[in-house]
Amino acid sequence: MRERLLTGNFHLPQSHTLRVYRETGGYAGLEKAFALPPAAITEEVKKSNLRGLGGAGFPTGIKWGFIPKGHQGPIYLVINADEGEPGTFKDRYLLEKDPHSLIEGMIISAYAIGAHVAFIYVRGEYVRPWRILRQAVEEAYAAGFLGRNILGSGFDLDVVIHRGAGAYICGEETGLISSLEGKKGWPKLKPPFPAVRGAFGAPTIVNNVETICHVPHIMRRGAEWFAGLGTNTQGGTRMYSVSGHVVRPGVYELPVSVTLRTLIYEHAGGLPNGRGLKAVVPGGSSAAILRAGEIDVTMDVDGLKNAGTMAGSAGVIVMDDTVSIPEALMVVARFYAHESCGQCTPCRESTGWIFKMAKRIVEGKGRKEDLDTILDVARRGAGTTICAFYDGAVGPYISYIEKFREEFEALIPRA
Ligand SMILES: Cc1cc2nc3c(=O)[nH]c(=O)nc-3n(C[C@H](O)[C@H](O)[C@H](O)COP(=O)(O)O)c2cc1C
Repeated sequence: MRERLLTGNFHLPQSHTLRVYRETGGYAGLEKAFALPPAAITEEVKKSNLRGLGGAGFPTGIKWGFIPKGHQGPIYLVINADEGEPGTFKDRYLLEKDPHSLIEGMIISAYAIGAHVAFIYVRGEYVRPWRILRQAVEEAYAAGFLGRNILGSGFDLDVVIHRGAGAYICGEETGLISSLEGKKGWPKLKPPFPAVRGAFGAPTIVNNVETICHVPHIMRRGAEWFAGLGTNTQGGTRMYSVSGHVVRPGVYELPVSVTLRTLIYEHAGGLPNGRGLKAVVPGGSSAAILRAGEIDVTMDVDGLKNAGTMAGSAGVIVMDDTVSIPEALMVVARFYAHESCGQCTPCRESTGWIFKMAKRIVEGKGRKEDLDTILDVARRGAGTTICAFYDGAVGPYISYIEKFREEFEALIPRA
């Protein structure tokens, strides 16, 4: 039977309420967690092979283990609900349909890392999800799941919801922290990593919404069961946002071992109007593009890495054979040029240059040398900036041109 851990309640009326959450076993994981010492929870999460679902795919339990042992003073948990990666719209459903699974996950995670204050950084445009989440937090306080001495455990936790203001860079964890601190959302150099020196100078764990929503399930049903749902290196299921040319666009929760072909053709209903598949972006706009013949890959972090792309935020963008890849590149290039925070020269300048070149190619005014200039500028800047924004932009720049070069060349005047 297909396990639906995160989306299993989505079809229930009032699934966002504490009543429905409790009726379906909610907060049982928390009771189990409080019976264990905090370090045992981190161990359990390590054993579960849960990997971050926000983009980087870092093992969650290992990240938690980076909090300095015996630290005196505040420790923070920050939930990344900024969900800005184009093609990704899964966290929004978790906030709207099952906010208590996030709250329960946060209490367990905060208990494990020793945090007594947790922040949720919500994408500014997510007004409805924010309203529902705020209501759920109020309900949780009223029922004694948040605040002082939760369920008589002696553990205290306060939750603060912070709204973003529409900048993609504030999804990058250190940019998010700067924004949370009331500053311009500029990323910070790592190391020190946030787990050592994060929000307001204190050790901070930043995790994605979906990552944390898995934690109550790991507590309820055990790390081995969770690990067994996935591959050797990544446990559990994840939510794939499928958009573009498919019959049934939407969010699909599936084991991480599902193949891209199965996801597109069996779950999302294949392509409409009898069109052929041209290309797929498997992990949000920053992931390298795959050709139609490259979709027999598993969707776990390592499967997609081995295929030369990335699982990223699992935003799957399907393109049929009517799509112009140069136009698609121009659209993503415009996004990165607009969203670069401007702090690092290679990113600030190259994203603008590359957009201009992509645009003139699409307009039939490209120059013979443009394609190699884009590749050169992309490759030189990668790895030279404070955060991974530019490395992400380079994914489409290089792969769209390398895999579909003839389409670009056909648009460039020969003279
Ligand atoms: C430019 C950029 C934007 C990002 N945007 C998001 C985002 O919207 N949501 C998110 O969860 N992670 C985002 N990330 C990844 C975060 O930096 C971080 O890895 C993640 O929140 C950690 O949580 P996880 O380990 O649970 O995935 C972004 C990273 C970069 C470089």
